[in-house]
Amino acid sequence: MSNLLNHPEILNKARGEIDELTGSDRLVDEQDIVNLPYLQNIVSETFRLYPALPLLVARMSSNDCKVAGYDMPRGTMLLTNVWAMHRDPKLWKEPERFKPERFEEQGEDKKLMQFGLGRRACPGAALAQRLVCFALGSLVQCFEWKRVDEKYVDMTEGKGASMPKATPLRAMCKARPIVGKVM
Ligand code: HEM
Repeated sequence: MSNLLNHPEILNKARGEIDELTGSDRLVDEQDIVNLPYLQNIVSETFRLYPALPLLVARMSSNDCKVAGYDMPRGTMLLTNVWAMHRDPKLWKEPERFKPERFEEQGEDKKLMQFGLGRRACPGAALAQRLVCFALGSLVQCFEWKRVDEKYVDMTEGKGASMPKATPLRAMCKARPIVGKVM
């Protein structure tokens, strides 16, 4: 929501995609998500720049092994800096820019690691991805959104393993006609 409020043109495009799919008589449903690629790309781009667990979960090697060519003796703690990988200019064009369109290029989403990777990756990834898209899609479909003033939403990160916002989001919203129709 913070990113969408700072980029109203992206918010409009997402709303257009939803309206085109659902028409003006029904609410977006979980089954619609597969047919809303732009909405999915917004969620991917948000996880890229603001991964919910920027250092994943601390892991420890149970045996001697190699990771990316480095020797990892048994018992070594490994922290994966996904935040840095998601902003690496060697991997991403204009890495600091919020640009959901980048995921229209095939294979770009394969570079994301917001749910970790491999055997200990998040088992709730598919559920979480769908629910985040569904929740965001519902908010976009049902309300007009605006910043509380001209100032951009502050995206500064606060302290904590899950990278909370330093300043909680405040926004203005107004119900769209669809809400009156279906409620
Ligand atoms: C947006 C939501 C979520 C995000 C961003 C997220 C992200 C993550 C990440 C990064 C890890 C660590 C992976 C690693 O160390 O490589 C993890 C682990 C885990 N997640 Fe999630 N997760 C989310 C939602 C969920 C949900 C909905 C569930 C359950 C229904 C879930 C269950 C778990 C469990 C059980 C683990 C530990 C797996 C293990 O250690 O083997 N997560 N998650």
